[in-house]
Amino acid sequence: MSQPRALIGKKYPAKQHARNVYNHFKSKNASKAQGSFFFISGENLELYKYCDQTKPIRQNRYFYYLTGCEIPGSHVLYDTEKDELTLYLPDVDKEDIMWSGLPLSKEAALEKYDVDEVKYAAEIEFTKAFTTDINQWNKKFETSLIESDSDFFYALDESRLIKDDYEIELMRHAAKLTDNCHLAVMSATPIETNQTHIHAEFMYHALRQGSKYQSYDPICCSGESCSTLHYVKNDEEINDQRSILIDAGCEWNCYASDVTRCFPINGDWTKEHLEIYNLVLKMQEEAYKLMKPGAKWEDLHLKAHRVLIEGFKELGIFKDYPVEELFENKVSARFFPHGLGHLLGLDTHDVGGYANYSDPDPLLCYLRLRRPLETNMVVTNEPGCYFSPFLLEDVLEEKSKYINREVLDKYWYIGGVRIEDDVLITKDGYEILNKITKDPKEISDIIKNSLNRKFHNIV
Ligand code: GLY
Ligand code: MN
Ligand code: MN
Repeated sequence: MSQPRALIGKKYPAKQHARNVYNHFKSKNASKAQGSFFFISGENLELYKYCDQTKPIRQNRYFYYLTGCEIPGSHVLYDTEKDELTLYLPDVDKEDIMWSGLPLSKEAALEKYDVDEVKYAAEIEFTKAFTTDINQWNKKFETSLIESDSDFFYALDESRLIKDDYEIELMRHAAKLTDNCHLAVMSATPIETNQTHIHAEFMYHALRQGSKYQSYDPICCSGESCSTLHYVKNDEEINDQRSILIDAGCEWNCYASDVTRCFPINGDWTKEHLEIYNLVLKMQEEAYKLMKPGAKWEDLHLKAHRVLIEGFKELGIFKDYPVEELFENKVSARFFPHGLGHLLGLDTHDVGGYANYSDPDPLLCYLRLRRPLETNMVVTNEPGCYFSPFLLEDVLEEKSKYINREVLDKYWYIGGVRIEDDVLITKDGYEILNKITKDPKEISDIIKNSLNRKFHNIV
């Protein structure tokens, strides 16, 4: 499949990435960085135990960042002093050509990738180099490798944090493919009677558009399973569980998208489902209002909690205590147990966020981004509200005086609602990369129009 138009004729900017890493390294530790080499091995094909079949492969993201190359068994070397980037392709195994076809030639690789030189793995030689890890693919260079140096990781992660124009185009494209998949899922509700059908619909359209890999296993829930944050079982009959949550994102050239939409399976929102949906939408909108360079992510996240508390008071789920008392007593923590969002890039939960999972504050311990926003970061904005009997067991005991059980009991069947967008932080604010609607009326219309289209029941 071809690249988006904006990238045709351009190369993935590997060389600039290598320079960025070096600059961050230098800013952290100039003497260590001086005259250094970076050497990173990509992933290689590996067999399953007792079997001649290879495991699925996911390219090493640090390697990809310095090459833009997905070929298994490759390595990269950056000589910081000479400013020279060398890609090492796997040695050619003539016997394997029969099974796997001709490999990319050195000349073609030089044409394709933004590197100074292309060689074969057998030609690797250097004295001392920083690397992310010593593994089975680079073990023979062990004595020359400086492994897992924290300043080197810092430099890699700080570079990956800020996306350049090329990376943003890749992410824009991934988000566009994901939009089409979500629209297809909403439009196919007449044939979706099992969670697997939602999964299948998404995957079919992803693959058809050239996205062979997903950023993560699609999360396709209905009813109570919508309260399981990373539900991947995706195999239950939907029956009369009407609330659907799909969290899924296409990958494009190793770059992720990560989008969640919720809807009623037949297009008719129940009173409670719509109330919670609109509340989560408001949490997201209020977070958007604060989103700009310099904003503290914690402030956006805590604002979303306050919106939830106010909304729950209006619905009567929380009793009429002051918002600040409910907030200070962390009564909303288990209704919105995850963070407002995370960095997005080569990884779905991208590097550089510096989460603090041992933060004693239950409102903050799962927040994956603990630093102010900067221009050209890409983050998700994904508030949620869940009714999980497991999560709420302690809350219902310890904080029972704040909760109106009778009202709460009307909401369990929904499971949960999450609305998730992928957002580029811009100089003046933000830009949402995905465009699939989250307007409840528009979603309802898409579903109802498809119901009128009389699909063949193919199951
Ligand atoms: N899809 C995983 C997440 O939203 O973080
Ligand atoms: Mn996410
Ligand atoms: Mn997600």
